[in-house]
Amino acid sequence: MKPFTICTADESHVHLAEAISGALLEASRDKGTGLATRSPEYIREKMLQGKAVIALYKDEPAAFCYIETWEHGRYVATSGLIVLPRFRGHGLATEVKKAAFHLARRNYPGAKMFGLTTSLAVMRINSDLGFVPVTFTELTSDAEFWKGCETCQYYDVLQRSGNKNCLCTGMVFDPTPKTKEWKRKKSSSLSLAD
Ligand SMILES: CC(C)(COP(=O)(O)OP(=O)(O)OC[C@H]1O[C@@H](n2cnc3c(N)ncnc32)[C@H](O)[C@@H]1OP(=O)(O)O)[C@@H](O)C(=O)NCCC(=O)NCCS
Repeated sequence: MKPFTICTADESHVHLAEAISGALLEASRDKGTGLATRSPEYIREKMLQGKAVIALYKDEPAAFCYIETWEHGRYVATSGLIVLPRFRGHGLATEVKKAAFHLARRNYPGAKMFGLTTSLAVMRINSDLGFVPVTFTELTSDAEFWKGCETCQYYDVLQRSGNKNCLCTGMVFDPTPKTKEWKRKKSSSLSLAD
């Protein structure tokens, strides 16, 4: 792997927002990729809020991802994952997503974390972090979140389903011990019945 620097983005990275926004736009045009674009202003704002992770190769942006909270911190989404084309296939998305995951866990430890993706690579990364696939009913119902899909080429599909289905798979990481306890009880009651 090339010598990448991965860190929480801040004001020293805002000049790279344009290039990251351009890379998202380019990737969103690929057939089969359900990806929303984000303006340079939006990316700059995430950097200044300490809600983004950036990977650098020398002084160039190599990868990016940001987090956003919904429903007063009940949910946190990791979104906008992009690895610039020439840096793909080196495990960079895995490292950036992992850093965004830890950033979100540190700042919002009680929040349910989720993401939407059409990408097999991202599904693999998410699964390794403990995310599981869910229906959209398990994700935030905040209309602002779904409005963020507006620039995706499949937005009409999402709209026709009333935000219930689309090409993306929804994945959730639920930190609540209750879920684990429920699973334990469920599996022990199943084995008793066997
Ligand atoms: C999807 C993307 C982020 C992957 O970045 P990357 O740095 O090449 O990914 P990694 O090298 O970390 O690979 C992660 C895993 O996915 C696998 N993978 C990578 N590219 C893949 C592909 N095209 N198809 C299937 N699996 C793939 C890798 O083998 C690895 O799996 P492993 O850990 O089991 O070996 C990158 O291709 C990209 O930016 N695409 C355009 C934007 C996009 O689709 N973003 C996702 C929005 S949710």
